[in-house]
Amino acid sequence: MTSSFDFAPLFPAGLPAPSARWTGLAKYSFVGGNNDSEQVPLDELIEAANLALQREGRSLATYGLAHGPQGYLPLREFLVSKLKRDAGINCTVDDLLIVSGSLQALDLVNNTLLARGDTVIFEQDSYQGSLNRLARLGVNVAGIPLDADGMRMDVLATTLADLKSRGIRPKYIYTIPTVQNPTGSIMPESRRAELVRLAAEYGVPIFEDDCYADLIWNGERPPALYAMAQGEGVIHIGSFSKSVAPALRVGYIIARWEILSRILPLKTDAGSGALEQMVLGEFCPAHFEAHVPKLRAGLRAKLVTLMEALAEQFGTAAEFDDPPGGIYLWVKLPDNVDTQELAQAALAEGIAINPGPEWATDRAYGKSRMRLCFANPSHQAIRDGIAALAGVCHRKFGVPVRMANVARG
Ligand SMILES: Cc1ncc(COP(=O)(O)O)c(C=O)c1O
Repeated sequence: MTSSFDFAPLFPAGLPAPSARWTGLAKYSFVGGNNDSEQVPLDELIEAANLALQREGRSLATYGLAHGPQGYLPLREFLVSKLKRDAGINCTVDDLLIVSGSLQALDLVNNTLLARGDTVIFEQDSYQGSLNRLARLGVNVAGIPLDADGMRMDVLATTLADLKSRGIRPKYIYTIPTVQNPTGSIMPESRRAELVRLAAEYGVPIFEDDCYADLIWNGERPPALYAMAQGEGVIHIGSFSKSVAPALRVGYIIARWEILSRILPLKTDAGSGALEQMVLGEFCPAHFEAHVPKLRAGLRAKLVTLMEALAEQFGTAAEFDDPPGGIYLWVKLPDNVDTQELAQAALAEGIAINPGPEWATDRAYGKSRMRLCFANPSHQAIRDGIAALAGVCHRKFGVPVRMANVARG
């Protein structure tokens, strides 16, 4: 139904473009950060919901469950001990703010630190959700290339020096150091130490986004940057989206009070959803440690299926590294492939992929790259979807020349 009331003259300048209507997931969906539905620990979550609601459900009558604006206390207590054990972080429940997914953390930190015209430092290949936000805020981005060990410190050093010589103090260095999105790299401890040193030398805070740290195949997680800097000049964010389920919308910020106390007034939703915090607060101490290795094994198996399907269907036309964890494969196709055009043509045939330009500070660099999320589709859907994608790619760009070892006409 069309409306006769015209809102358009009322919109303030700078509003984002209108949303497209949701038309459902593609038949073969390799987009977004969705998780494996088979791996949602359903029985344990049902049990946790029952236990938590029976014990303290009546506290739902009070905003924030009467635990204050920083979130449900047992969940914060779990995070304090988990992050001490796994990431070496020494913090207390008072250093933690529970948020509605780490996307809210990104907004809160940006709103606390950034103004139009500011400069931030990013990894050249990075998370679309973080990059989008900067475009909207009118912030300049300096992209630092990565290698197999993450952000390159030689380029960071020259960039910091160059910005300083031009009188520019970047507002933060944003990094996804542990299973980087989209490359999958893990920054080793020695490079982390160099990053902490450089950031301190130039007086630039580090913004550490660490939501994939539980998904390392061998479970060996380096210490968090927050831990290595003893919290000095570092804001750390994390999430339960990748380790439990993204629809729960539970993430967190860890920061010293001098910055957390400036972030907190910007969280104006009177607290994140309490039920999911209560369920996680009950589930995690009892089941998190047993759940994560099962999740990892299932994800690793799907990655193997994806890499085999790509090798079979694309052969040498698809280049990628075998990532040490996570839910994504970052694939380089031949230079003549424009993955934005490929994504459009593929979507028309029911295959959804993330085109590289949206995941890079330099759109031209991302032109023939694509990001594939392998966590959500079944093994069969991965095989069928990649075969279908190779067909679309061949018709549009003439590559791959051979598919499933059969020459294409
Ligand atoms: C690097 C990174 N940060 C933040 C997010 C947002 O996650 P959520 O809001 O679900 O916690 C994602 C999601 O894919 C991500 O990849």
